[in-house]
Amino acid sequence: MSGMADGKSADKCARHVAIIMDGNGRWAQLRGRPRLFGHRAGAKRVREIVEACPDLGVEYLTIFAFSTENWKRTQTEVSGLMSLFKHYILKEARSLAEAGVCVRFIGDRHRLEPKLVTLMGELEQITQDNTRVNLTIALNYGGRDEVARAVKRMALDIEAGKICAQDVSENTLTRYLDTHVLPDPDLVIRTSGEARVSNFLLWQAAYSEYEFVKTLWPDFTREIFAQIVGDFAHRDRRFGAVKS
Ligand code: IPE
Ligand code: IPE
Ligand code: MG
Repeated sequence: MSGMADGKSADKCARHVAIIMDGNGRWAQLRGRPRLFGHRAGAKRVREIVEACPDLGVEYLTIFAFSTENWKRTQTEVSGLMSLFKHYILKEARSLAEAGVCVRFIGDRHRLEPKLVTLMGELEQITQDNTRVNLTIALNYGGRDEVARAVKRMALDIEAGKICAQDVSENTLTRYLDTHVLPDPDLVIRTSGEARVSNFLLWQAAYSEYEFVKTLWPDFTREIFAQIVGDFAHRDRRFGAVKS
């Protein structure tokens, strides 16, 4: 157990924090600007939160950038977001790599344009040996879609005789999920005041603590993040058991 700077024990740390970055559109609307203005402002907040992680004992940060349901938005917004993701990767790749961030993407890449998929793969590749922070970006991600894709691949392996149906357990399915290399999130934060899950990490967040904050994502700061992660240490997680 590694001792934290403020004396908190490591088991009270939120080792994996997941964030539903919500409220970009409303943030822009409040300023009389198009929704994409909010998305650009939102993307700029990511770096500061990633950088805050090591001091807070957060080893894994997973952020929800685009859901499998977000395709229902206007073509202008969807294509604006896709081009924002490309620009973000091009602009941030080097500094993320130099800052020791290991970047991974989860979600279904098939519906994304090839250019974006290539950039995602390259960023994963150049940062794969980094260990300071693990940043996972959920892009075209949906919890139900992820489980469906996992079950499909597992079924194919059963058909091929690689695994036996009788041996399928929670652990087996976990290995087929996009998140197979990540621990379950300890804490899920959602900004913008909405108190819903919106299809994020449905399987993995079975016992996560949730924090819903009113702040719109483009206004989210390192200080707010530190406060929430600090408060996590006081939560009583029981995982269904009764403490003596
Ligand atoms: C979150 O902000 C970012 C994405 C879903 C891509 P929204 O775009 O959902 O912002 P609101 O909820 O409309 O304010
Ligand atoms: C969830 O936010 C998805 C992301 C933050 C990427 P939404 O804004 O899409 O969720 P709903 O529609 O309010 O549930
Ligand atoms: Mg929203």
